[in-house]
Amino acid sequence: MKAESEAILQSLREAIAAAVTERELAEVKSRFLGKKGEVTSFLRGLGALPSEERQAAGKAVNELKQAVEAAIERAVRELKGRELARRLEAEWVDPTLDAGRRPVGSIHPTTRIQYEVEDVFTSMGFQVLDGPHVETDYFNFEALNIPADHPARDMQDTFYLEDGNLLRTHTSPIQVRGMQRLRPPLQIIGPGKVFRCERIDASHESSFHQLEGMMVDRDIKVAHLIYFMKTLLSRIFGREEEVRLRPGYFPFVEPGFELDIRCLLCGGKGCSVCKGVGWVELLPCGMVHPNVLRAGGIDPSAYSGFAFGLGLDRLVMMRYGIEDIRHIHSADLRFLEQFR
Ligand code: DAH
Repeated sequence: MKAESEAILQSLREAIAAAVTERELAEVKSRFLGKKGEVTSFLRGLGALPSEERQAAGKAVNELKQAVEAAIERAVRELKGRELARRLEAEWVDPTLDAGRRPVGSIHPTTRIQYEVEDVFTSMGFQVLDGPHVETDYFNFEALNIPADHPARDMQDTFYLEDGNLLRTHTSPIQVRGMQRLRPPLQIIGPGKVFRCERIDASHESSFHQLEGMMVDRDIKVAHLIYFMKTLLSRIFGREEEVRLRPGYFPFVEPGFELDIRCLLCGGKGCSVCKGVGWVELLPCGMVHPNVLRAGGIDPSAYSGFAFGLGLDRLVMMRYGIEDIRHIHSADLRFLEQFR
């Protein structure tokens, strides 16, 4: 009896030691404790014993059964513990680690202002037109009432290509291209990059951004011009800004004006952006010159119009308090990240 249960326990220990998975342990369990299990049939064998031996034998068998159950339970527990330890080791993550996310870019402040100005004008019925960076002499100068010997060309020296074309010095050629394509009444804006042979300083760059605007219809007057310019500025700055109109000369407008805005950077005291004047030239504008209307195929005796050329970079500088135009094209992330 004793020897038999010892043998059973011994083979149980061996079976447990050999079992690697929970499933194998379950098999061990049914092999010993199942209906046809070793312990069970050992238990059944009790009936054959003489009655005086049966009690002691029954006790011993029960002890054996408990010992088997306990051994299996412990083995299952240990196995689960080992499995958990293995998973904790294998699946360990450090949530504080940088997951290697890619930095997200943002819209350049000049582009952002451009979109905003486009929204203001499209909401008032203007169309947005585009034009080429490489222009012909005709569209950039001639059609805008600037013939070859005109002194105004001096102020707009630019980069000439070998074929006689040039990098456009302003967005004004878009006026002529627009008039040639559309019929009045027309309301257009044309944003884009322009180029000049400039002496670079805090407020001058060799490439910068303008936004051209033009409205042509019957009986367009200076009052219309002032209305649209003031609407633009109040929408962009979110309040009425102090402005002044000075006479200004541009060959493609008559009369021509300079619309200045009170320097938002220094408030009028004088700084590097306003060159100490307290005002910043923001919006040259005027009534479209009859020669320009003619170049656009429009009869100046029937139609009139206004035009303006907004310096987008200046506007950006005013709005965000940027003291040097060179930051705008610097591609310096420390500068750009401020506009996220
Ligand atoms: N094209 C001019 C420049 O770049 C700016 C300008 C002035 C545009 C008057 C206009 C205008 O449309 O009416 O200097």
